[in-house]
Amino acid sequence: MILPKTWVRERKKEHYYRKAKKEKLRSRAAYKLLQVARKYRFIKPNAIIVDLGAAPGGWIQACLRIVGDEGLVLAVDLKQIEPFDSPNVRTLIDDITNPQAVHSIREFLPRPADVVISDVSPNISGIWELDHFRQIELARCSLHIANSVLRSKGNLFVKVFQGKVLDDFVREVKQNFASVRLVKPKASRARSAELYVLGMSLRRTH
Ligand SMILES: C[S@@+](CC[C@H](N)C(=O)[O-])C[C@H]1O[C@@H](n2cnc3c(N)ncnc32)[C@H](O)[C@@H]1O
Repeated sequence: MILPKTWVRERKKEHYYRKAKKEKLRSRAAYKLLQVARKYRFIKPNAIIVDLGAAPGGWIQACLRIVGDEGLVLAVDLKQIEPFDSPNVRTLIDDITNPQAVHSIREFLPRPADVVISDVSPNISGIWELDHFRQIELARCSLHIANSVLRSKGNLFVKVFQGKVLDDFVREVKQNFASVRLVKPKASRARSAELYVLGMSLRRTH
């Protein structure tokens, strides 16, 4: 993919981009997760996290800061993730739209997960409605995986794009989680259509 020069220039000047470089974080996205996790405390020390769409790994690094030595992050992406020098990270190359993915994820987990986080994004076409529909479809796949791998009272944090069918998706999350809110972290660019749905306390029991 060729990125426009102005976009690349603008990004390099940006506060969270420079902060991530300085703190050796693999992406500025790490701050989005850290900001929301700090506010709503949905990731606890020692937690088992499933991170969907995890490459290059900024959210993995953010999770490691919170879960500590007894926690585990299972990171899933279409792309290979550069290895981490930590026994608390496992990586899996898979497509979350593949119905078998949920079985592969379960095989990697020592017990049901405490939290599923998903920053999965489609390739952006620039056609607003198309990108929105694709994003919501990926968010649905993340919800499906969360329903299958989370423990009772587990949490879900998933990226969505604003648009026509967002309300339908939020309703689906509300059917499964006791408390649901839409959040826009400070580190998410104001002009970006992205928001995150935070579903806390999965109702179904395993
Ligand atoms: C915005 S990036 C994630 C950034 C990551 N949270 C971080 O902090 O480094 C979105 C990721 O979603 C992945 N992705 C897109 N479609 C996917 C799919 N169907 N299954 C798994 N991963 C997917 C992409 O490969 C990409 O790495």
